[in-house]
Formats: sequence, structure tokens, C-alpha cells
Amino acid sequence: MTHILLISGSASQPSVNTETLRQLSELVEQEEGVTASFLETSLFDVPHFTLQGENEGQPIVDALRQEIAAAEAVVFSTPQHNGRVPAVLKNALDWSNRGEFRMLWKDIPVGVVSVSPGARGGAKANEQLREDLEKVFKARVVEPHIEVARFEELQAAGGVFADEVLKDQARRMLEALKAADEERKAAGA
Ligand SMILES: Cc1cc2nc3c(=O)[nH]c(=O)nc-3n(C[C@H](O)[C@H](O)[C@H](O)COP(=O)(O)O)c2cc1C
Repeated sequence: MTHILLISGSASQPSVNTETLRQLSELVEQEEGVTASFLETSLFDVPHFTLQGENEGQPIVDALRQEIAAAEAVVFSTPQHNGRVPAVLKNALDWSNRGEFRMLWKDIPVGVVSVSPGARGGAKANEQLREDLEKVFKARVVEPHIEVARFEELQAAGGVFADEVLKDQARRMLEALKAADEERKAAGA
């Protein structure tokens, strides 16, 4: 069994990214061998990173790090803000990769979704997040990644994963996360 930690990169409420992850969790319930739950730490409540704050210690950051360290697999859904990953998500990732926690993400299987009301589905933020997770954080980024464009139209037509292409991508992403987790467990990680 692989448990997937769902992380929305949006601090807005409502959020099309959080809603897409909620819909993904419904799909997870129909799949064999995977379960999912949302990150409990609110990224919105994580303070802006400062060296002073780091030296003082931050219980919410400790909680965030513990949730990541315990993750068997992770799916992010990120908005795109001016062509980039939103600051709230970047801030949490910066906190998660400091000092003795620098290798926190190493080899954790990660899938990346991006969602936008626009036509390109946050493709640039998706690409940026995958690149950072792979090259900087050394996570194991799986394919396919998923770009969800024109969110409102999908919602009006029955939901994001009522779309057959997106549903197929999501199923393949879940399979890839499960396979990567099993491989990691077999290697004794
Ligand atoms: C500061 C800001 C910048 C944005 N930049 C982009 C952008 O570059 N590309 C895009 O497709 N949408 C952009 N948007 C629109 C977001 O995709 C939209 O607000 C979406 O609902 C964000 O996801 P969320 O609802 O999960 O927070 C931007 C929104 C904000 C607030």
C-alpha cells in the first residue's frame, strides 16, 4: 500500500488546485494499492523564511518537515503566479531543505499537477516545480505530469477527471508513484 501526501500550492480559498487534489483523492479511492490525504500543515501559516526565524526554531516548520519526512509519495498541485510557482509554496520548499534537513526530499516519489483557469494549465509553474524537485531537492519526479487547463469548463462538464485524457494521466501518475514507492521500500529506504 502506498500512502500519498497531497500538497496544494495555493493558500486561496476556494482554490482550483485544492479542489483538483480533492477530486484526485476520489480517483485514488477507486485505485488498488493507494490511499491519500492532505498535508495537515497549512502553508499559509508557515512564516516567511528568515535566518533569524530559523535560529529561533519554528514548531510549524518542524511539523511540515515531519510530514514530508514520513511521506511514501507526494502529489503537488500548483497554481501559476506570473509564470512561476506561488511564493507560499516556494517558501515552504525553502524551509523544507535547510541544514540537517537538506536531503529531506531525497528519493521521495513525487507527481506534479498544475491547474489554471487559463488555456495553458500552469505549464511553466509545473515545469519549474518538476525541475526544482528533481535537480535541487533530489526527489524522484514521476511522469506523466498533469496540466489542467480551463478549470471552469472542466468543472461544468462534470469535474477534472471526467475528462478521459486527464483521468488516464492521473491513473498513470498513481501507478508510477506506487511503483516508485515499492522500489524504494524494496531497496530498504
Ligand atoms: C498574482 C497572480 C498571478 C497569476 N499569474 C498567472 C499566470 O501566470 N498564468 C495563469 O495561467 N494564471 C495566472 N493567474 C491566475 C491563476 O491561475 C488563478 O488565480 C488560479 O485560480 C490560481 O489557482 P488557485 O485557485 O488554486 O489559487 C495568476 C493569479 C494571480 C493571483
